[in-house]
Amino acid sequence: MKTIQLLGIIGDPIAHSLSPAMHNAVLRKGGFRYFYLPFHVTPQKLKDFIRDAVILHLKGFNVTIPHKEAVWQYLSWISPEAKAIGAVNTVVVSGRRLKGYNTDAGGYLRSLTEETGFRPREKTALVLGAGGASRAVVYALAKAGLKEIAVANRTRARARKLAREFGKKLRKTRIVDVPFDVSLINRLLPDVDLLVNTTSVGMNRSAFRGLRLDSLKKSAVVSDLVYKPRFTPLLRAAKRRRLKVHTGDGMLLHQGAQAFRLWTGRRPDLRTMKKALLQALKLK
Ligand code: ATR
Repeated sequence: MKTIQLLGIIGDPIAHSLSPAMHNAVLRKGGFRYFYLPFHVTPQKLKDFIRDAVILHLKGFNVTIPHKEAVWQYLSWISPEAKAIGAVNTVVVSGRRLKGYNTDAGGYLRSLTEETGFRPREKTALVLGAGGASRAVVYALAKAGLKEIAVANRTRARARKLAREFGKKLRKTRIVDVPFDVSLINRLLPDVDLLVNTTSVGMNRSAFRGLRLDSLKKSAVVSDLVYKPRFTPLLRAAKRRRLKVHTGDGMLLHQGAQAFRLWTGRRPDLRTMKKALLQALKLK
């Protein structure tokens, strides 16, 4: 009898995760002998989970809040990308060795360029937020050759830290922090080719008050990492102005697809994966 190997995602909480639906759909359709499970792992249980993952021969797992940094201590290798971003979202288990990767950055870039046709070289972006998701996005955009990235965050010190740190690591791109002040942001918009929201504003239909998208170039792309609702007030406003929009499910899909490749060595069927993801999103 052929055995089935396990994949999964660890987090606390974990019930909301869309990854099991997305991965199992594509694994089933492709006849892969893997099954992807959500594992509720509290910080106190992380060490036990790692031991069990090795004993049970898990092929790999995704890592979400609050383990993206804590998992580092158990890894025997961390990709340069994950190191620079400061977070691991995908682990590959080979024997007793665990390798850590970050597919959020690559997944974001892939989804942005494929879904909107955005060409990063020599462009300017304004990124709202300076948390973990922002770090992956800023890293991906700088690596892709943007000329300038401005980061605005409610807690300015966090934006300043991110801009300083990445400014040193990614020297080809000018990375600056700007105040999280709506009138200043409105004044910056005419020079912006890409506006990205990495904050949680937009969940529960909350909005950036006073943000005026009228002054964005006609060719500008507005990208939102929030995936529920799929069309946030920011994206709705952009659509009303006939701007290109990039929804948050794209990053989710492509980070998953890149993790899938790391585990199986094969490209997943993106259509099946996306269909399952959007269906799961409706149900959550
Ligand atoms: P993630 O991993 O999703 O990026 P995070 O690291 O907790 O999560 O970051 C959340 C981001 O959303 C931060 O940039 C946060 O701003 P602060 O650093 O000031 O906390 C931002 N954020 C959350 N709620 C916000 C709000 N109501 N208005 C503006 N920014 C908000």
